[in-house]
This record gives sequence, C-alpha cells and structure tokens, in this order.
Amino acid sequence: MTKEELCNLAKQAMQNSYSPYSSCRVGAALLAENGKVYLGANIENASFSPTICAERSAFAAAVSAGERKFAALAVTGGKDGEINGAFYPCGVCRQVISEFCADDFPIYVLTKGEIISLTLGDLLPHSFSNEVM
Ligand code: THU
Repeated sequence: MTKEELCNLAKQAMQNSYSPYSSCRVGAALLAENGKVYLGANIENASFSPTICAERSAFAAAVSAGERKFAALAVTGGKDGEINGAFYPCGVCRQVISEFCADDFPIYVLTKGEIISLTLGDLLPHSFSNEVM
C-alpha cells in the first residue's frame, strides 16, 4: 500500500468523527504488518477529558483485533472537515504509538495537498519505554 492510499483511507476515516465540541474531524489509518488497515476517528465527550483521538481509536481497534505489529500510520484532520494545516499526533498518542512501534515507524500527516513524512523518532525522541523497567 502506498502512503497516498493510506492517507486517503485516513481522510475517509474523518467521516466517522464524533466531534460536536471542537468541530475538528480527525481520521487515522493504521497499516498492520499483515496488510490489514484499521481506521480510527476522534470521539469527543461532553466532559472533554474522556475524548479519544483518532490515532488512539485506530490503535484500540487494531490491538483489540489482536494486531501487535504495525507498518505505518496516516493521520489527517481539519475544522469542519476541511483539511488545511497539519494535524500532528498529540503527545498522548505519540506515547501510545511508542508502546507498539519503533523509532523508524513511518507516520504520514496529510495536509492540504501535501503529505508530510515523519518517523515516530522525529515526533517522540528519547521516549520512555519498558526497556528501562
Ligand atoms: N485530536 C485527534 O484526534 N488527534 C490528535 O492527535 C490531536 C487531537 C482530536 C481530539 C479532539 O477531538 C480534537 O482533535 C481537537 O483537539
């Protein structure tokens, strides 16, 4: 699967965003090593803090289905569903991604007409991991 295809799936995942409070629709597409793709959307809550980001929704779906090995993640989002700026994964999502993925794990952020290609190591250097425990 190309990064363009994965980004396109992230864009489709925005459609299921439940975001009545921020109006930010975010979608994520997580490619497992076996080729399966798991989609996630942000799910907001009236109490705000229980909100789940699109990236963590995708990981929850995949890990709940038994997946443990991942090849790439694509993320995109925008106010009222209009993709303009870069919706980079938040700090909590970066930490969750690092539970399952190495520093070289590719993360694609789809903005208006451009795909920003990063690695987890770019987004979360010197991460805390269970290697020190
Ligand atoms: N959001 C995500 O889905 N992913 C991120 O990495 C950053 C933020 C969502 C949470 C909330 O529903 C909305 O974007 C505004 O913060």
